Amino acid sequence: MVSTAKSMLLRPLRWLLWRSPALRSRKLLQFAEVEADGGRDLVRAAELTGDARLRRLFLAHARDEERHARMFKSRGLALRAGGARRGVSLIDGMSRGEAGLDDLRVEDEDDESLLAFIHLSERTAASEFASYHAVLRHDPPTRALFERILRDEESHMRYSLNELNRVAPATARWALWKARLRRLWKAYLRVAVAVASVFSTVLLTLQYFILLPPFALAAKWAARREPRGWTVIEPRTAGGQGR
Ligand SMILES: [Fe+2]
Ligand SMILES: [Fe+2]
Repeated sequence: MVSTAKSMLLRPLRWLLWRSPALRSRKLLQFAEVEADGGRDLVRAAELTGDARLRRLFLAHARDEERHARMFKSRGLALRAGGARRGVSLIDGMSRGEAGLDDLRVEDEDDESLLAFIHLSERTAASEFASYHAVLRHDPPTRALFERILRDEESHMRYSLNELNRVAPATARWALWKARLRRLWKAYLRVAVAVASVFSTVLLTLQYFILLPPFALAAKWAARREPRGWTVIEPRTAGGQGR
């Protein structure tokens, strides 16, 4: 199983996240969507490639991802049916699961860059699923699910690297580096958007509590100066009409 230093550091927080049946259900249903999405991208990749061997492997891979989607969905719904209510957590975003092909446009990639991207994506998925498996001792069915899916992700990781070395033996390492840099850039953009969202929320909240109260107080004072009760309005004189 693949394990990273990052996974070890995040383990206590992941344990906390996966304690809640509501969040387990929510995350599994999210994973199901990503896996199904990844499967569709792989079918498209199989249609586009001119390499017969790759076409067969991409289709087999797509079938695996579609099966993972069904397995995650079934377990997620079972947890929800068992009483898990929907929930949101600040650490929710820490469990990304399999990133699929992210927002990669399969049509714009050649076999080499696609295989490099698939390899890195599957490696990350294997590492993530191994870390969830490690903190799920309290939920044997979900733990067994991750164990099963993890084996598939590791095999996807291996076949994509083998195929990359087959189709581009001279440039495989460079293709992997390029894919790494692209993933880093996407990760940076995700973090930048999240930070911008936090800042805008903080600024709007401060505006609400600092700028609005003086206006509210001014309106209150103005209302106090108004005479109470009914006010008699003088009848209009003939000369004042139409003004
Ligand atoms: Fe998968
Ligand atoms: Fe996979």
